[in-house]
Amino acid sequence: MKVDIIPLREEHALISYKWRNNPEVWLLTGGRPDRHVTVEMELEWIRKAIVNPSQKRYAIMADGTYVGNVQLTDIKDGSAQFHIFIGDTSYWGKGVATEATKQMVDLAFSKIDLKSVYLWVNKKNAAARKVYEKCGFAEESSNENEIRMSVSKS
Ligand SMILES: CC(C)(COP(=O)(O)OP(=O)(O)OC[C@H]1O[C@@H](n2cnc3c(N)ncnc32)[C@H](O)[C@@H]1OP(=O)(O)O)[C@@H](O)C(=O)NCCC(=O)NCCS
Repeated sequence: MKVDIIPLREEHALISYKWRNNPEVWLLTGGRPDRHVTVEMELEWIRKAIVNPSQKRYAIMADGTYVGNVQLTDIKDGSAQFHIFIGDTSYWGKGVATEATKQMVDLAFSKIDLKSVYLWVNKKNAAARKVYEKCGFAEESSNENEIRMSVSKS
């Protein structure tokens, strides 16, 4: 499967608002929506997010189909926090997140000139932990429910 990451655009809201309303996607993440998300709410959110200078947001394309989002937030002092979801669950387990994570981390070090990228992952999120390990993230610390992992520019 050919995986690309492209800058997130307003039109992505027409698809991504549906993913916001699938609890299966948010089960093991920190960003679970607390109410029904309409297309207008998602559009408004994208409009603000894509002009926020401390964030870089991308759409994940698998063979040309929009399947999820990957982003860096809290960009400051040469570091940023990484997040990813594959909203179209029919694409889970096909290597899409692994490829998108590699591309996002490469971009962080080559184009955005960061020195390190970190993330928080739920201990029970075995698929995500596997993706991050395959992409060079290593455990830094943990609390009761989550592990902090990071990767540094080599
Ligand atoms: C976690 C997530 C990003 C993984 O995306 P994906 O495209 O399915 O990931 P990949 O196919 O690249 O890799 C998943 C790996 O985990 C493995 N895996 C999947 N489910 C697993 C499980 N329950 N236990 C152990 N390993 C598991 C797969 O076999 C694969 O490893 P492999 O390539 O060595 O076979 C996706 O499931 C998702 O978006 N989940 C909801 C949102 C989320 O949890 N985001 C991360 C928050 S930190």
